Amino acid sequence: MKKISLTGIKPTGLLHIGNYFGAIKPALELARDYDARYFIADYHALNIIKDPRELAANIRQVAAGWLAAGLDPDKVIFYRQSSIPEIFELTTQLMAFTAKGLMNRAHAYKSAVQENIKNNADLDAGINMGLFTYPVLMAADIILFDADVVPVGKDQVQHIEMAQDIVQAVNFNYKSEVLKVPQALVQENVGVVPGLDGRKMSKSYGNAIPLFCDEKTLRKLIMRIVTNSQAVEEPKDPATSQIYLLYQLFADEEEERSLANRYREGGMGWGEAKEELFRAANRELGPLRTRFNEIMANPAELDAILRRGAEKARPIATATVRRFRKAAGIE
Ligand code: ADP
Ligand code: TRP
Repeated sequence: MKKISLTGIKPTGLLHIGNYFGAIKPALELARDYDARYFIADYHALNIIKDPRELAANIRQVAAGWLAAGLDPDKVIFYRQSSIPEIFELTTQLMAFTAKGLMNRAHAYKSAVQENIKNNADLDAGINMGLFTYPVLMAADIILFDADVVPVGKDQVQHIEMAQDIVQAVNFNYKSEVLKVPQALVQENVGVVPGLDGRKMSKSYGNAIPLFCDEKTLRKLIMRIVTNSQAVEEPKDPATSQIYLLYQLFADEEEERSLANRYREGGMGWGEAKEELFRAANRELGPLRTRFNEIMANPAELDAILRRGAEKARPIATATVRRFRKAAGIE
């Protein structure tokens, strides 16, 4: 039997190429070897996004994005967190085994408190209980589906460790393996995709290239990549150029070598390097964009895919909650 891989995608904004190379592509590759369960963490996004139209649009775009990138809903169980009420029952069950002190130590909560200290604000300002208990909901997402591994970025490892702590508290109390202990799977070979300004590409920095933007926008954004003032004739170092780093993501080895040589020889200006990047990026993203637009144009089909995913997920969810109830004496 294949091991189970599960991950959640928070629909908090438009997908960008950092998400694609850092999360989507590796997760889809993993889905070949694992029994994969991927979901849209819409209740996690609710902690941040309070505008209903914005949240609804994000949910659809992120779901369509994963499908356009190649997620096969016949092979991967793909669903919305909000379609699985058992997640919320398990959250309540896990709350009883989660030390408040554990939540006090969560990075996201701690940095919100630090920000308040810095701004001389009340320590609790702007912090809702959803943010405070975020790791419990995330633990429930994972534990409910008996995940063996959880592919995540380094920033999420603490949350997986908290899920392990919570499972251990439950299993210790009932002296049996009621719940499965999950492991984080951090892909070490996935690099950080640089943004237009050279910092990590992130929606919060306003330096992102949206994954499904139209061709004109893609070109315009690439032309905006910040460069130094080296003249056309000067030899350039590919390793320190974010144009080159981005190019590597889209090009084959031969193309990479050829552009690196042109950098080192001199005689190529930044404008020309950007044109090369645009060509390679558009070649890979063009078909993705077309699929994305097709999916977005057919909301009934998208809803049906997510509904079928939820139907496959529910029986697994019900079994876990039942197991807990039985162990706890709530039947
Ligand atoms: P953002 O920084 O834009 O808010 P998220 O935190 O929502 O992105 O990240 C979603 C997923 O995409 C995570 O798995 C994260 O590791 C990955 N990711 C985000 N930005 C990058 C990047 N610039 N390079 C590589 N991976 C990234
Ligand atoms: N917290 C994750 C993030 O910010 C999203 C997430 C929610 C998740 N539930 C999950 C990831 C369960 C893995 C497993 O990216």
